[in-house]
Amino acid sequence: MSTTYRPVAWNPNKRRYDGVALSAIAGFLAVAIGAQAFLRPELTIETLLIRALGAAAFTLLNVILCIGPLARLDRRFLPLLYNRRHLGVMMFTLALSHGAFSIVQFHSAGALNPIVSVLVSNDRYGTAAQLPFQPFGLAALGILFLMAATSHDFWLHNLTAPVWKALHMCVYLAYTLIVAHVIFGVLQQEVRPWLGWTLAAAVLVVFGLHLAAARREAAGDRENRNANPDGFVDVCGVDEIPEKRAVVTCLSGERVAVFRYDGRISALSNVCQHQNGPLGEGRIVDGCIVCPWHGYEYRPETVVSPAASTEKVPTFDVRVHAGRVLVHPRPHAAGTRIEPALVLEARTA
Ligand code: HEM
Ligand code: FES
Repeated sequence: MSTTYRPVAWNPNKRRYDGVALSAIAGFLAVAIGAQAFLRPELTIETLLIRALGAAAFTLLNVILCIGPLARLDRRFLPLLYNRRHLGVMMFTLALSHGAFSIVQFHSAGALNPIVSVLVSNDRYGTAAQLPFQPFGLAALGILFLMAATSHDFWLHNLTAPVWKALHMCVYLAYTLIVAHVIFGVLQQEVRPWLGWTLAAAVLVVFGLHLAAARREAAGDRENRNANPDGFVDVCGVDEIPEKRAVVTCLSGERVAVFRYDGRISALSNVCQHQNGPLGEGRIVDGCIVCPWHGYEYRPETVVSPAASTEKVPTFDVRVHAGRVLVHPRPHAAGTRIEPALVLEARTA
């Protein structure tokens, strides 16, 4: 709902979220360092730290990537999505510490610039066992840096949503680079079979959850073809829409959310202007639709955010006939005011 820079608004939920996340990270690092020190007493503290930080960053990245599909599959995971970007910044801090310690440890003693040394010190491209794995980590770190640095909504508004989203989709490229970093790095150097199995399981879980969420959404994206001769499409019965909530349908290839509130029905694009959150999974609070992902608000008749803000989504003509809700699939320009259909009048007519 912002048109200009707004500072991060802290609230007790965000503090609790961050507190739990930071405690879990501290616990992970303590257990990882303690367990390795016990099992491999010959390792130096530097190596213990480098490994624990890398493992913590990668584990957190897996968690972050699972939150999106989990929230799509089960609404109970939505609270995790709400401040996912905080987890992203924490993960970047862990990855940066891991990368920085590694560079100091392995690349700072020679005459070469340490970053150049990461890129050129190993040129054995002939065998998988000796392939230089650190450049993969460096490339991933560069992507994670860009994402962490632009995570605030200030950048979302200034870069524009498509650029920001394209940049943040690069997380999957970073993930692939890190998997390569681990496969060609630590998995080649040591006989720790459980490490390979853990990596394979993590990749399978991330991939499987994305596949399951995509299948669920594809099922909901089947075009609604119940069109009347006047072009209006029969979406559902009035009573099928819970009060202050929506039913989502697919019209002309777009997801449309049909909200019912205070005896009225309004139809609007299901796609939140912030980060494409599913508006139809939100509800109406104090007269505004609240996006379930990060709480952006829109007035249902105009679908413009309240106060002096710029976010708008397209609206659709809607009518009620014989207890059925009919929506015209042609969208109006974002923010166009459309009179809601009245439920009671239509019933008595
Ligand atoms: C400048 C960038 C990076 C450098 C120079 C670097 C370097 C290294 C080195 C030298 C190791 C082997 C440590 C050892 O076995 O003693 C390692 C392992 C590892 N790295 Fe990186 N890395 C970088 C970035 C990253 C990033 C961005 C991530 C993940 C977010 C990552 C995740 C890991 C993991 C999971 C391991 C295996 C840890 C273990 O043994 O359990 N690295 N890295
Ligand atoms: S996607 Fe963030 S508020 Fe809607």
